[in-house]
Amino acid sequence: MFDLADVQGNILRGYTGKPHVRYLILEVADAMAARRWLAASISGRYHGVPQITTGDWGTAKPETCFNIGLTYEGLRALGTPSSSLAMLPNEFIAGMTASAAKLGDVGHSAPEKWPAPFNEPKRIHLIATIYADKVEQLEQIQQRALDRNALTLLGTREGCTFPGEKERDFVHFGYRDNISQPRFEGVPDSQRHPDRQPKAPLGTVLLGHPTNLEGLTWRVPQPAELGHNGTFNAFRVLKQDVAGFEKYLDQAASFLLQHPRVEELLPPGNEEKIGKGLSRCEALREIVAANLCGRWRDGTPLALSAEIPDPKMDLTDFDYVGVGDSRCPHGAHIRRCNPRGGQIVQRIANNSRRLVRRGVPYGPPYDPAKPFERDEPERGLLGNFIGASLGAQFEAMSCDWLNLGLQDPRITGSNDPISGANDPRTSWFDLPLTSGDPIRLHGLPEFVSTRGGAYTFLPSISAIRYLGSLTT
Ligand code: HEM
Repeated sequence: MFDLADVQGNILRGYTGKPHVRYLILEVADAMAARRWLAASISGRYHGVPQITTGDWGTAKPETCFNIGLTYEGLRALGTPSSSLAMLPNEFIAGMTASAAKLGDVGHSAPEKWPAPFNEPKRIHLIATIYADKVEQLEQIQQRALDRNALTLLGTREGCTFPGEKERDFVHFGYRDNISQPRFEGVPDSQRHPDRQPKAPLGTVLLGHPTNLEGLTWRVPQPAELGHNGTFNAFRVLKQDVAGFEKYLDQAASFLLQHPRVEELLPPGNEEKIGKGLSRCEALREIVAANLCGRWRDGTPLALSAEIPDPKMDLTDFDYVGVGDSRCPHGAHIRRCNPRGGQIVQRIANNSRRLVRRGVPYGPPYDPAKPFERDEPERGLLGNFIGASLGAQFEAMSCDWLNLGLQDPRITGSNDPISGANDPRTSWFDLPLTSGDPIRLHGLPEFVSTRGGAYTFLPSISAIRYLGSLTT
């Protein structure tokens, strides 16, 4: 059996159900004090420094959860030996801002436009995450974490799931999220929904284990206790333009209403099946929203039910072969991010780029009843994209698939409709019809822009112990 106690929580098993999340973005103020802080964080003594939550919580999650990620600069500031630092992957060493072009962080999303503390990436050493049931608990844990002059707080980011049981796991733009995650052998939480995809080998997410790329394991920085069971995280602050998204749905629905083949997309009389009381225009908006994502907003996958949202459908037990292939647009967000067993150009990449995603919305829910105002509060997603290789997973997915569409000649040259770096002058998206050519939509603007982020290493418990014991 794999030892979940050596891996930080929220990697192999998620903290679903903890509504409040706060990120503390920290700089090492004093290396020796910071190493003592790390050692204390796994000491098992529940006073002072908050205790790191591991993956072995049994069935009941702890009331609050606390985890850390270290940037390359952070590992350096802690005094990690240069021989170990040299074994870290290049993209992690260079940091997220160096990969801006690959990630689509250009224009409004360019790192030069990121607000503090992300405007000084070299100062970001450690990102601590607190998950809690109540806001007061976030405060208490934050105070305990900052109590010892080891770390300087550069800034915070805070997220919260939308209120109410029904809204759990919903994100801005109104979709249900956190459905499809890789499942791992012997790891309890990763069995949430029936799923016909092959189980991911542990090396997809943890260093030192086999991957599904034949004969390949990612390099483990030495000594083994530093690298083994660790992983990498792309932490992203993604601003979502919800008003712009809803406005685009209006625009696309008006265009479709006039289209000669609209009845193939929405047979007359089907509006009620898409949503109770929906007008024809409103039903078309929902069809566009579903196609952009590959799921209806309630989570129903188009690959299983392309005509109407159906709560009885399995949520992630589908593939893009046979009928599933024609039902979901090749350019839809979830198909770009995970082509499953569907035919793609780089066949070897089919199951090898899977990412563990842990995200929470920030900012208040958008209220469609209120017209868009200039000083709308910022809202978006605090996303964590976790995998054993930033280059072969997160960056390859972002660049080749989300932003260039290299996986299929039919979408090459278009960007992801939801999170891609789109420009309305050139963007397009094809809505498949049951027969003949698709209907092409144009003019998609950039709905998501980057407002910060960092690449972090999520050390194992053994690695935290090792770092805490360094003396140099
Ligand atoms: C604010 C930006 C984003 C929003 C609103 C968003 C929304 C969604 C939604 C609603 C789903 C469907 C739920 C599910 O299958 O679990 C999804 C799935 C997914 N997203 Fe995103 N996403 C965003 C950014 C990204 C980025 C930047 C990446 C990767 C670089 C990404 C990777 C994925 C993956 C891998 C899946 C699962 C696909 C599958 O396995 O079928 N997403 N996203």
